[in-house]
Amino acid sequence: MWHNKYKLLGFIEDIVNEKCNGFSVFCDIFAGTGVVAERFNEKNIKVIANDFLDSNFIPLKAFLGTSKINFEEIEHKINLLNDLEAKDDNYFSENFGNTYFTLENARKIGTIRERIDELSNDENEKAVLIASLLYAVDKVANTVGHYDAFRKKLDTVQPLRLLVPDFEAENNINNEIYKEDANQLIRKINCDVLYIDPPYNSRQYSDAYHLLENLATWEKPIVHGKAKKWIVRTSKAIIACNQRPKLLLI
Ligand SMILES: C[S@@+](CC[C@H](N)C(=O)[O-])C[C@H]1O[C@@H](n2cnc3c(N)ncnc32)[C@H](O)[C@@H]1O
Repeated sequence: MWHNKYKLLGFIEDIVNEKCNGFSVFCDIFAGTGVVAERFNEKNIKVIANDFLDSNFIPLKAFLGTSKINFEEIEHKINLLNDLEAKDDNYFSENFGNTYFTLENARKIGTIRERIDELSNDENEKAVLIASLLYAVDKVANTVGHYDAFRKKLDTVQPLRLLVPDFEAENNINNEIYKEDANQLIRKINCDVLYIDPPYNSRQYSDAYHLLENLATWEKPIVHGKAKKWIVRTSKAIIACNQRPKLLLI
């Protein structure tokens, strides 16, 4: 799914350590999956992570922005979600069953997503549960890695299973997570290291993210065409930077 910079992490870390002798605020302004921000997330470093898509912002909020969470409660709720019976059709199965997912998995995904809204005690818990669902969904998708199309032969048939996320909440106390246009946010924040990994092209959104964004926002829009898309979004590269970070990585 999500294209990420996982393979470049060592390289990015080496450059930051070489060029920047000590820093306390690291900003990943087009954070995507958040793997880069996560690498620098330590107790004495404040991480600012931003992405304007809910399907990225919600996992960022869950894993980098949640400092108070009861993991036992989360485990209990995830077991409950995994055990839900889903025999009837719903928005998700009607639109994505028998194509991107088996009908059984699609029914379960829609049922779980609906239940998360009722089950969550607060916004952090909700973010953690939705993030867990997004990761589980991506593992059982009948695609070649993005949601531009589904594979004709529906042979990705393993059952959907949400896992209890594992993250160090105490590292997140000072972090700030945003869902803003980077062009606006850059005028409001201050950081020592600014990492800029903008989109490669504007088609990227509707091609890669429409399905996960649909599930994350859960506004149940009408979807179109064979690929069942709804999202249309474009982006500009950063145009102005008011401050001077110690290090600018692009
Ligand atoms: C190339 S990806 C970042 C990948 C990320 N470094 C990773 O390793 O996962 C670019 C990201 O920027 C986000 N994005 C694009 N335009 C944006 C904008 N104007 N403001 C905020 N986020 C934006 C996209 O949603 C996408 O997740």
